[in-house]
Amino acid sequence: MTSPSITRRGLLRGVGTASVLASCNRPKDKPGTDTPTGPAVTDANAPAEIGPDAVPLTLTLNGKPITLAVEPRVTLLQALRLDAGVTGPKQVCDRGACGACTVLVDGVPRNSCMMLAHDVAGANVTTVEGLADGATLGALQAAFVEHDALQCGFCTSGMLMSCTALLRRAGNTRAPLRAEQVREAIAGNLCRCGTYPNIVAAVLKVGGGKSEAEG
Ligand code: FES
Ligand code: FES
Repeated sequence: MTSPSITRRGLLRGVGTASVLASCNRPKDKPGTDTPTGPAVTDANAPAEIGPDAVPLTLTLNGKPITLAVEPRVTLLQALRLDAGVTGPKQVCDRGACGACTVLVDGVPRNSCMMLAHDVAGANVTTVEGLADGATLGALQAAFVEHDALQCGFCTSGMLMSCTALLRRAGNTRAPLRAEQVREAIAGNLCRCGTYPNIVAAVLKVGGGKSEAEG
């Protein structure tokens, strides 16, 4: 007895036909959908879904508790500038490359354009507006003026926040700052006007360090 010969084309045609028939015969749980329904799988640790409309966001901004109504898709930078009316943080690149939007979140410098506003719920956020005491500039701001550490000023608020974080860290160690520490702290802050040497000098003035010119 000879077995029927199977050609490659015949085999593929048979498999294709079987697949179509199988999909046609698959039972459907709901009319109009192929997705079987079953018991919902939930992750108890998943964060609660919010939005898409504006929902309350409470944080401490420059020492004052505030509550804003913010859509979950909004960045911290947008919420600060458009909802809180705090325009010190600048929107320049809007993609984490220039540092002009730097703020302190619980004392840590962060690019506010790269965070969602709701990620800072309950946190302490400090912007450049929080460095002055009314009309009196903070020590670092005054040193920037004294050392001519700004020209167009677009980078300045971000520079001030990165340098403030550095000075606070250095204050904890009580060691005088070195120029390379300042340069490292502002490595993520770009100044198209090229005021870097003056910024370093201003920070060293406040941080008790020596400039390179002084040795
Ligand atoms: S605007 Fe955020 S890093 Fe440039
Ligand atoms: S002062 Fe103009 S970008 Fe820095």
